[in-house]
Amino acid sequence: MEDRVPGIKSRVKGDEADLAKIIPFVNQRYGIDLAYYRQNFLFRHLRSRMQETGCATSLEYIARMKADPDEFKLFLETLSINVTHFFRDAEVFKAFGRIVIPELVKRKDAGERNCIRIWSAACASGQEAYSLAILFKEAMGDNPSSFRIIGTDIDQEALDRAAKGVYDQRDFRETDKKLLDKYFTLEYNKEYRVNDDIRQYVRFEKNNLITDEPLRHMDVIFCRNVLIYFNRAQQDIIFSKFYAALNNTGFLVVAKVETIWEKDKFESVDLSSKIYRKVAQNAA
Ligand SMILES: C[S@@+](CC[C@H](N)C(=O)[O-])C[C@H]1O[C@@H](n2cnc3c(N)ncnc32)[C@H](O)[C@@H]1O
Repeated sequence: MEDRVPGIKSRVKGDEADLAKIIPFVNQRYGIDLAYYRQNFLFRHLRSRMQETGCATSLEYIARMKADPDEFKLFLETLSINVTHFFRDAEVFKAFGRIVIPELVKRKDAGERNCIRIWSAACASGQEAYSLAILFKEAMGDNPSSFRIIGTDIDQEALDRAAKGVYDQRDFRETDKKLLDKYFTLEYNKEYRVNDDIRQYVRFEKNNLITDEPLRHMDVIFCRNVLIYFNRAQQDIIFSKFYAALNNTGFLVVAKVETIWEKDKFESVDLSSKIYRKVAQNAA
């Protein structure tokens, strides 16, 4: 926990005590607790935004955020917190489709599952959740009760965008053109709307990975490009929640730059695409 920002009092250096004042403000106003993020990462990006906006102190920057609602969004973008797109790291989705989906379908066909349940944790504006729906639908055909995808995030605005399901051309830079044509409708303003035959599999809800109860009875959890923002102690909390959330032998997929420490909880299925399997409770 020594990396957590509130611990800063004991080792104040440079402008960090001043920068830390942003944390309670953002928490109160936007419900996002930046204290969970790695200190160096957070402060580096904060300094960069303050420099960009000509703010010398955190109080000036807070005033700036109050006066200009877009400034907070820009700050989050600087942290890359909301950045995502369809089939991000396409080779991971390919490996998942090749290795994991056939096994899940086999279990379902054998009557072990009625419905395959997938959690897109920290889904931002929903592209990952819809990508998974497309992948499962391609593999399983059209049967609305065969699988369910739940996308969660702490950012309500991102979840609202996810529920709206309208995306920009740039969101499809790793998407197969055939899938784009098949599952999206091009609107008059050149945006793409997710078709209802995909939308019916996906729902979104708010969930804070650190403070809220995890979802339950999951066969798959995708949690990518968010763990990097957390220190080790917070990551441990999240991995324990994911362990509780998964059915025995369920799968966990993290991002390429992220590492799972808990070898007793998760074993690697495919190292290069960071696909892991829960170590079943009776074997742990
Ligand atoms: C970079 S996006 C990742 C989106 C997607 N998983 C991907 O890999 O493209 C990170 C998301 O994590 C969310 N997030 C940050 N802290 C969180 C927390 N404590 N609980 C849930 N979501 C969180 C942010 O709101 C943001 O939407």
